[in-house]
Amino acid sequence: MKKILITGSSSRFAQSLKKVLYGENIFYTSSEELDIVNIDSVEENVKKIKPNIFIHLAGLSRPMDIHEKSIEESIDKNIIGTCNVVKVCKKHDIKLIYISTNYVYPGKAGNYKEDDGLKPINNYAWSKLGGESSVMLYRKSLILRLAMSEKPFVHNEAFTDAKSNFLYRDDVAKIIPRLLDYNGVINVGSKKTESIYNFAKKTKPNVRPVSVEKVKNFPIDSSVNIEKLENLVSKKKLDNSNNIKPIKKIYSAGPSVTQLEREIVDNMMKYDWDNYKYVEKFEKEFADYHNRKYCLMTPSCTMAIYLCLKTLDIKKNDEIIVPDVTWTASVSPIVEIGAKPIFIDINEENWCIKTDQIKKKINKRTKAILAVDLFGNLPNMKELKKICKKNKIFLLEDSAEALGTVYNGVKAGKFGDVSFHSFHRTKTITSGEGGVLLTDNKKIFLKAKHLRDLGRSEKNSYIADNVSLKYMPSNLQAAMAYGQFKRLKELLSIKRNIYNQYRNNFSDLKVNFNIDNSNFKNGFWATVVVFDKKYKVNIPNLIKFLKTKNIYSREFFRPLSSQPAYRKFTNSNIKKKNKISYSLYKNVLVLPCHYNLQNDDIRKITKSITKFLLKDFKK
Ligand SMILES: Cc1ncc(COP(=O)(O)O)c(C=O)c1O
Repeated sequence: MKKILITGSSSRFAQSLKKVLYGENIFYTSSEELDIVNIDSVEENVKKIKPNIFIHLAGLSRPMDIHEKSIEESIDKNIIGTCNVVKVCKKHDIKLIYISTNYVYPGKAGNYKEDDGLKPINNYAWSKLGGESSVMLYRKSLILRLAMSEKPFVHNEAFTDAKSNFLYRDDVAKIIPRLLDYNGVINVGSKKTESIYNFAKKTKPNVRPVSVEKVKNFPIDSSVNIEKLENLVSKKKLDNSNNIKPIKKIYSAGPSVTQLEREIVDNMMKYDWDNYKYVEKFEKEFADYHNRKYCLMTPSCTMAIYLCLKTLDIKKNDEIIVPDVTWTASVSPIVEIGAKPIFIDINEENWCIKTDQIKKKINKRTKAILAVDLFGNLPNMKELKKICKKNKIFLLEDSAEALGTVYNGVKAGKFGDVSFHSFHRTKTITSGEGGVLLTDNKKIFLKAKHLRDLGRSEKNSYIADNVSLKYMPSNLQAAMAYGQFKRLKELLSIKRNIYNQYRNNFSDLKVNFNIDNSNFKNGFWATVVVFDKKYKVNIPNLIKFLKTKNIYSREFFRPLSSQPAYRKFTNSNIKKKNKISYSLYKNVLVLPCHYNLQNDDIRKITKSITKFLLKDFKK
């Protein structure tokens, strides 16, 4: 399979190209990774990636007049940068594709053929022609002269007496994979030459008509002849060009990060190294959202749980009641602190701790119940609160998987004496790693805050009043979390759409999902599907099968009491006692829930699963 290296990953054209040219073998590089002005940087990237094809998009384009004002930058990026790329491609015998412009033609007669005379219309076009000149010296290359425009049209005015045959950016991008095999020069434009005003009106109805006489140096007719392109493209199909099969890996989880978070993090990095402004801002807003009095951010949710146990003075031989089915991080802090986890079975319906088995397990050593809001579901909180109150023990709520879950108007993260959330890279909002503890108890909050930062004295921060570790988050982490949290509503609606798509696509199968009804709004961090037992599905084989289709899914949690780390806290009877914990995972799959999932991806996933299921079912 051929490898392609592409420069200018943040350019607008790259955004279009990414929709049609992507996969394991396609490498987009930004100017930070590959600086075309520095030939060593070009060389390093080529050595690392070893591409067969180099698509050179990077350069200086808009605003056009920058090429008049700063000719140095124009020369560096568009001429010298391209020369560097040509030299490295030549040295390593790599096919080069260079993106140029129709503005290298004189812009008077229009319908320009590839071998017509050139006379650039402005400095931008001269700089592109400068680049073209070096590419021309290298025969294993293709120059694409694009008559390309944005959709919708970007300007408020358009010329009635100038024309071209612009093709929209996304449509140009679609053609590129079909042209990878060709050398020489090819014009790219649309079939129709028309006035720029008529063209603009189609996507911007209120664009104002103006005369080209208003401006200097604008081409009256910059249309290009596309006979060559039409002959080439019509002969070939998109997919069989050059063995480049776009492969999209469908990952099980991953974030959505926008310019908003980047700008907030950038501002933090510019101005806020001497404070914890973002930690404080985030804590305040996160507490308010949960109707909590206090919030403390930590480097991870695991550390928030551990810090809480320290704060509550949980000691060796204390016992904490936990569900048998959860992520190890709910329970590992209990073991780390020296206490003993007592594993209770889960409910078949909501996959959370069963309340009817708890009472028998409470004794003098019991200090808390740690309930887990697994996959956005909630246990019977009313009953748990009652048990805790009666026995004067703490209710701890691990809501790491339930951001955005709301039950009768109360948010997950509000139910425990102390509750926890996670901002791990796979979670609903992320700061890479990160977590919080939430509480309404001032004493717990103040002690946890003190212990979070080395137990230092409030009066003199260079004096330690208590021995403690450090559980402080960084301002950088908090800035990212703060930006993500601003988008929570949008992010939750993406997660809900993913669930809705799965549910609709699986409507012919006998399956169940996370809890969601009129009183109970699930945050849908991850959509989980429970297959009816009649399918006798073999989950490990299903996961392997999906992997062959580049779909990465996950097993449901296996009981902790069955895992080497926790066996010493149980006995062989547990399998019989915790029946649901030991059987449920065999019929459950955690579906991919990456933010970049498109409806088509979900269709592919559900089609593949249905195929696997029904094939096995018939046997
Ligand atoms: C239920 C549960 N608890 C705790 C954690 C730990 O979170 P973190 O990775 O932020 O420490 C996770 C994260 O995956 C989780 O799912």
